[in-house]
Amino acid sequence: MSQSANHRKSIAIEKIRADFPILSKKVNGKPLVYFDNASTAQKPKLVIDAITNYYENQNANIHRGVHTLSQEITIAYENARVTVQKHLNAAHPHEIIFTKGTTESINLIASSFGKKFISKGDEIIVSEMEHHSNILPWQQVCEERGALLKVIPINDAGELIISDYKRLLNSKTKIVAITHLSNTLGTINPIEEIIALAHAQNIPVLVDGAQAVPHIRVDVQKLFADFYVFSGHKLFGPTGVGILYGKEKWLNELPPYQVGGGTIKTVTFEKTDFADLPLKFEAGTPHIEGGIGLAVAIDYINTIGLDAIAEYEHELLVYATEKLETIEGVKIIGTSKNKASVISFIVDGLHPFDIGTILDQLGIAVRTGHHCTQPLMQRFGIPGTIRASFAFYNTKEEIDIFLSGLEKAIKMLK
Ligand code: ALA
Repeated sequence: MSQSANHRKSIAIEKIRADFPILSKKVNGKPLVYFDNASTAQKPKLVIDAITNYYENQNANIHRGVHTLSQEITIAYENARVTVQKHLNAAHPHEIIFTKGTTESINLIASSFGKKFISKGDEIIVSEMEHHSNILPWQQVCEERGALLKVIPINDAGELIISDYKRLLNSKTKIVAITHLSNTLGTINPIEEIIALAHAQNIPVLVDGAQAVPHIRVDVQKLFADFYVFSGHKLFGPTGVGILYGKEKWLNELPPYQVGGGTIKTVTFEKTDFADLPLKFEAGTPHIEGGIGLAVAIDYINTIGLDAIAEYEHELLVYATEKLETIEGVKIIGTSKNKASVISFIVDGLHPFDIGTILDQLGIAVRTGHHCTQPLMQRFGIPGTIRASFAFYNTKEEIDIFLSGLEKAIKMLK
């Protein structure tokens, strides 16, 4: 890259960092280096302001009032749904269901799809790299319905073994539930191919996009995804709000997950007629400011551009990987050819928790442990890793601080 291109990028990063108030905070007396973005991302001021504005100027319930505030906030909330629809290139706004997050979105599909379509002897396919939220709901459906959970294995680089996946697909398979991007390994899965292989046998696919949406442009129609789920808080939006995208045909066929206010057309003590999409799946007063804040986050990301984000984060990934590999005793877990800016590693003879604690004293936030992927830890025969996950507001300078902190921690602990 030319000198001037580098210059332009560094100016953009400074401007971007100024948009995130928390990034100028000190932690334990040191400037915060926030490398725990796969857990939750930081929020730009625009998102924080949108939430404050909701409570200061807009607070009312949606879909329920004739009064002005209620009408105005209903329009704002439905506009937020359209922002998500356009961002994912879904065909219709009513294919976007607001949920509490990825976990609730997967529970919703596992429960509703399970009730309608899964019976004794059926099979559900997940992969060895799933986080618990994309294992447990399916495990529960299997227990309830007498179905079997089948697992696509991975190789030592942390890539799915597609030939094994092909062997697992059969006439008993009712659904495939798979992550787009591994929260622990950083692996970007070949989702288009996975979906095409399942569709060749008329099997629907749920894609867990929790980790993918902050890094990759997602077009649900191009992917032909049947269901695509993610959380707002990993996408620089508020906590407590998430998205379930479902193809209209599927969502119309599935029974409601939770029932209550908002999900109905008419109720008598004898019978209830449920509302059309999307309300059929949105029981109770929703996380109104969450939906609005998420739309603001999406608009913000689009002003930077996901292609520019992916390119910049790839530079961070390569830079950090090359330097990490030179530190004695460090082993990276997850070396897929197609990888996002998530690096898990272990250090010979040292516990991840001890390293994480020393890094924290230096103002550096990483996640340590099993990352809600215990079966994956079992696959690699390790108790946990140290995970550094980067967002577009991170810098090479921060990576240098992290690496020197890591070397310091290793010296202290050895
Ligand atoms: N699944 C989230 C993570 O990877 C919480 O940290």
